[in-house]
Amino acid sequence: MRILDAGAGTGRLAVRLSILGHRVRALDPSPRMLVLAQAHAAAAGPAVEERLTYAAGTIEGLRSQKGPCYDIAVAHHVLEYVPDPVAAVRALAASLRTGGHVSLVTANRLARPLRLASQGQGPEDVRASMEERRFRTELFGGWRTEYTPLELESFSSMAGLATVALRGVGVFANLQTGPDPAPEDEALWLQVELDAGRVPEYLGSASYIQCIARKPV
Ligand SMILES: C[S@@+](CC[C@H](N)C(=O)[O-])C[C@H]1O[C@@H](n2cnc3c(N)ncnc32)[C@H](O)[C@@H]1O
Repeated sequence: MRILDAGAGTGRLAVRLSILGHRVRALDPSPRMLVLAQAHAAAAGPAVEERLTYAAGTIEGLRSQKGPCYDIAVAHHVLEYVPDPVAAVRALAASLRTGGHVSLVTANRLARPLRLASQGQGPEDVRASMEERRFRTELFGGWRTEYTPLELESFSSMAGLATVALRGVGVFANLQTGPDPAPEDEALWLQVELDAGRVPEYLGSASYIQCIARKPV
């Protein structure tokens, strides 16, 4: 498949997709990230490297760079940093062939107050975090905005895409206060997370949310 990894960062996902045999274009506005992604791909071997290409630029600038050719466009942990998420998802949709899919992953704003309360923060802090949408960060432009599951889904529907799945990612991981899971339990925890992520009632408490949507025929 032809896959666009928009906001590819260090290329973690792009390299894994390439290892699986897909042709992947890694897009990122940061030259430093693209260098890291290239180094990561080189370490994975020539066959992986051969299936990966790179482009410097933003999601919003996509339309002018490529026609509608991708089977899948992913933007994971990126919409938090773009000024206009609907415009960004529209640009991703325009890059897809008819019937292609997007996968959007963002931090879940609803999970923040739950996390603070479980860490023992007081009611003022928990209430304040229920109302905050934008947070200061050292990274990628100074601000990050977090969204709710319904907001994320609305971005893809406003971009003309049909939702295939809206799911939670990391329902339990950030609530665990004890030691890291034992290595022999990691696969079991992964399965528990995958199962919980499919339960709509857990959407509000998952650390991240994923929306998979399809470009209609
Ligand atoms: C938190 S990293 C996520 C990287 C990768 N997708 C991952 O899941 O590990 C956010 C990335 O988005 C990129 N970015 C920021 N604004 C962007 C934009 N407008 N268009 C595309 N990428 C953007 C940053 O340079 C950074 O590499």
